[in-house]
Amino acid sequence: MNLAVAADHGGFPLKDRIVEELRTLGHQVTDLGTDSAQPVDYPDYARAVAREILERRAERAVLICGSGAGACVAANKFRGIRAATCHDSFSARQSVEDDDVNVMCLGARVIGPELAVDLVRDYVNARFSGAERHRRRLGKIAAFEADFGK
Ligand code: RB5
Repeated sequence: MNLAVAADHGGFPLKDRIVEELRTLGHQVTDLGTDSAQPVDYPDYARAVAREILERRAERAVLICGSGAGACVAANKFRGIRAATCHDSFSARQSVEDDDVNVMCLGARVIGPELAVDLVRDYVNARFSGAERHRRRLGKIAAFEADFGK
């Protein structure tokens, strides 16, 4: 799978480990930074991963900040992006199976690297179920974007 990974300075300590794991699993990974612990603004990295997905260079992304919250809020502002913060394996899997999440957010100040790697594995191995009820619900969300997202 083509994947994008990005982090702000809060997420930076996890990023290289995640990129390495995804490449080891055989995925094509575009690393969008940041590349140091120097403070940056997480919305810029949310925008970068959203762009990779919406311009179809990546199917999904992993976006890391300190808490997993700010990056998720920012990513969900882009039409067509479905981002979720997943700090447990049930959410990492089900957010894809039911909600077709295309940006997984993580908080590097909340979880450690080994849990993060396990969660990313769960996330990339999951597939959208395509069930009618889930398509219907996603359709309603997409309609919100059409109604109010102008
Ligand atoms: C940066 O200090 C921090 O606010 C950011 O990484 C994130 O946790 C925001 O939600």
